[in-house]
Amino acid sequence: MADQLKGRTIFITGSGGVLGSTYVRRMLDQGARVVASDLPGPRAEALKEKHGGNPDFRFYDLDVGVEDQVIEIFQRILKDGWEPNVVLNNAAITGEMLMGAGKPFPDFADTTVADFERTLRTNLTGAFMIARQMDRDIVGKWPATLVNVASMYALNGAHHPIYEGMPFKNFSAYGVTKAGIHGLTVWLAGYWAPRKATVNTIAPGAVFNGHSDEFQRRVSELIMAGRMAQPDEIADAMLFLCSAQAGYMTGQLVNVDGGFSAW
Ligand SMILES: NC(=O)c1ccc[n+]([C@@H]2O[C@H](COP(=O)([O-])OP(=O)(O)OC[C@H]3O[C@@H](n4cnc5c(N)ncnc54)[C@H](O)[C@@H]3O)[C@@H](O)[C@H]2O)c1
Repeated sequence: MADQLKGRTIFITGSGGVLGSTYVRRMLDQGARVVASDLPGPRAEALKEKHGGNPDFRFYDLDVGVEDQVIEIFQRILKDGWEPNVVLNNAAITGEMLMGAGKPFPDFADTTVADFERTLRTNLTGAFMIARQMDRDIVGKWPATLVNVASMYALNGAHHPIYEGMPFKNFSAYGVTKAGIHGLTVWLAGYWAPRKATVNTIAPGAVFNGHSDEFQRRVSELIMAGRMAQPDEIADAMLFLCSAQAGYMTGQLVNVDGGFSAW
């Protein structure tokens, strides 16, 4: 089905990451117009380099934690002539991102309020601000849908032992924000229903991104499928949630985790 997303104009935050960039590629393949955004930097440059020549692709610099930038984003997109009808709250501070930046999240006892709130600001307040701006600029004007991105570590606790001796770990603020984002989903679902907007959460499992053999072995034991996910396997479900075929779904949490959450 090459036209699963025809007629969809999809705005994505944090589009340059391992999952975001996969969504962008797959959405363009399925006939969507894609409005990508991310922090300025190498991830954004790589995305622009790859898709910049595609007339169905546009890119905007956006830090979801900066209120002024979020307030302006949809107006900028609309002024440039596109009307987003699908929005993805995908940007997040992740363990892998902190590790890549050489600043792993501190141990729990050493976590400062500033550390905690920095994650909250991007992963949760940022998602709220995007949803609020969607409400102001889009919801009720045409049918629309929002997909909030949680994690297998939203409503399930992290398995701390598998991170022992690893260069990255799961951190408290991450799980808290990922649980919180589903709270935003269920709150908004009923609020937006009269204005023909739907909102769902996707909870991806452990996605392979160059992890060591030892980490893969440890995490795979916790997963019914016995292995980590490929980014495209998460994208398969994400594309469905962005499509017209998901029109009767709202307020739902979709686990795409190889059975991790079902033991
Ligand atoms: N990869 C996984 O195993 C996995 C599992 C479960 C959930 N998730 C979730 O999926 C989403 C995408 O994850 P990923 O694996 O692609 O992560 P990633 O770290 O590769 O990408 C995250 C992206 O968010 C961007 N970002 C960070 N702070 C931002 C800000 N303030 N404003 C705008 N953009 C910002 C980063 O620049 C990056 O491009 C995240 O919400 C993540 O929590 C990922």
